Amino acid sequence: MKIVSKIDELRLQISQWRQQGLKIAFVPTMGNLHAGHISLVAEAHRHADKVVASIFVNPMQFGAHEDIDNYPRTMENDQQQLIAASTDLLFTPTPSIIYPKGLDKQTYVEVPNVSDGYCGESRPGHFRGVSTVVCKLFNLVQPDIACFGLKDYQQVQVIQTMVEDLSMPIEIIPVATVRETSGLALSSRNGYLTQEQLKIAPALAQNIQWLAKEIKTNNDFIGLAKKAASYINNAGMKTDYIHICHARTLQPASEDDKELVILAAAHCGKARLIDNLQVTL
Ligand code: PAF
Repeated sequence: MKIVSKIDELRLQISQWRQQGLKIAFVPTMGNLHAGHISLVAEAHRHADKVVASIFVNPMQFGAHEDIDNYPRTMENDQQQLIAASTDLLFTPTPSIIYPKGLDKQTYVEVPNVSDGYCGESRPGHFRGVSTVVCKLFNLVQPDIACFGLKDYQQVQVIQTMVEDLSMPIEIIPVATVRETSGLALSSRNGYLTQEQLKIAPALAQNIQWLAKEIKTNNDFIGLAKKAASYINNAGMKTDYIHICHARTLQPASEDDKELVILAAAHCGKARLIDNLQVTL
């Protein structure tokens, strides 16, 4: 695996592959990799000749009260996992390479509507940071396809909408969430959980599953979501939100909608966990 941190080194390798007519897939990450990320690399290999990954802890998507300095950085271990997954190229830029003028003077990309509620509401500015960095990384890597994990369902919709709205010639491939046997979705944030909290945290996925079953026979979506929130709280977490939404627009689901997604976030100790489930009625 080739590792580059400078833009001209990245562009040189990409243009060589382009001249050879090779198809390029991209897996952007913030590092601290786990099996969920590696499943993205595996999926990328199914669609392309070369797989590029990036590791960049993006300051623009962290809020003022969110501790970017303590975000886990495990570069050595990440590189070993990417090598084992046959990644061809790893891009590891610094903040000054991505944002040479500083965050305040940086042009940004903001995707309306799908960015607004849920995590967008709990983390103001977060999706602006995500869409800006992903747009920038897409312009640098110029991939044919890019893989994103469905655990971050709202993020996938934001990026899909950005690609459509800005006519980017990139196919977005959503990849299924990888879970522990307890049902807990794999996440870098699980590293913040104590042994005791690891026993509580699967209640998030379990109550989403419960809700998915209930909405098949009961269309009181708001009442059911409230119940699920109280079950999650009773399990020892603090629900941030749980909503039943239209799977593409993310608007609150109406009785006639058939393609739905349940979106949820809850605090478990120091960790804010998110999860979701798509449901077809
Ligand atoms: O999902 C993530 O790890 C990040 O939001 C992403 C897409 C790499 C952008 O920084």
